[in-house]
Amino acid sequence: MHAPPLPISHIHHVELAVGNAKQASYYYRNAFGFDQVGYAGPETGQRNRASYLLRQGNAHIILTTPIYKDDPLAGFLNEHGDGVIDIAFRVDNVDSDHVSAVGRGAKEAVAPFTVKDKHGEVRRSAIHTYGDVVHTFINSDEYDGFFLPNFEPWKIQGRNNGLRAFDHMVGNVEDRQMDVWANWYQQVLGFQQFLSFDDKQISTAHSALRSKVMASDNMRIKMPINEPADGLKKSQIQEYVEFNNGPGVQHIALYTEDIIDTLSTMYEQGVDFLEVPDSYYDELQDRVGVIQEDISVLKKLKVLVDRDEKGYLLQLFTKPVEDRPTLFYEVIQRRGAEGFGAGNFKALFEAIEREQARRGNL
Ligand code: FE2
Repeated sequence: MHAPPLPISHIHHVELAVGNAKQASYYYRNAFGFDQVGYAGPETGQRNRASYLLRQGNAHIILTTPIYKDDPLAGFLNEHGDGVIDIAFRVDNVDSDHVSAVGRGAKEAVAPFTVKDKHGEVRRSAIHTYGDVVHTFINSDEYDGFFLPNFEPWKIQGRNNGLRAFDHMVGNVEDRQMDVWANWYQQVLGFQQFLSFDDKQISTAHSALRSKVMASDNMRIKMPINEPADGLKKSQIQEYVEFNNGPGVQHIALYTEDIIDTLSTMYEQGVDFLEVPDSYYDELQDRVGVIQEDISVLKKLKVLVDRDEKGYLLQLFTKPVEDRPTLFYEVIQRRGAEGFGAGNFKALFEAIEREQARRGNL
């Protein structure tokens, strides 16, 4: 049964709980290229927390740190470490969407309320999704001030790496919970299943996962949900769930229109990316066919390529951006393809095994 879709227009912002937002802002500016554009904290009327608003293209990220130890956000950090606490959706009508979502089985996190200042008012509420992540519903049509009440402009120019927007947000959940959460997105928010991958498609001899991609009605929000599958070794999804102490956001994919330029800059700025063996590129042409990019350039920057019926995509994953093996980022450029790079899981592992074989260790 398909629930009617809630009129969610796009991702308003993503909020990360971090241990030290002042320092994290420096990293997101100088490594990832975001501009810092605003701030909310004790000085601006937000007594308990400091929040730094970062923007690159249409992607808004809020980095928030609790100032007092009894703040529930401090509990989140203790449990999960730095990570995504809120994927906020811009909606037309907070009250009706909230009532519909809760009526269809969502657990309420925050009942609808209004935040006002001299520039107008903002209506918001929140529901729980997997783990300790929430979806805020937010509407600021009646607000003329900067971003949201309590925020003040505080501009510090970042490096600008050409990242344009959120492409997709991936959640990791426990074994046998993928269908539960895929159904939740379908029933509660009226999302549709866009794609699905079983463990035969996303597996190697050693590690496996299953994934379902849920998408909003207007296709502007895509949220793959992964669960671990049995392999010879521990699934990377299982590792995440253990270190995160439960489900959570595994990676945020940021879209660029020139991945070669974006990655060149990010390497220079010290971002750590996944190591891709040179042997991955031995088989690339056979696997994906003709592409516009020079393979020697892709090899130098470790860009991964995958193809589907509609075209191809170029992508690369950062290493986790904190010391726990939890949240990481993806940089993605699409040349027609609508997929998420499922073919790379196997291609990458086989490349690693070819290198191992060359060293006589397989
Ligand atoms: Fe991804």
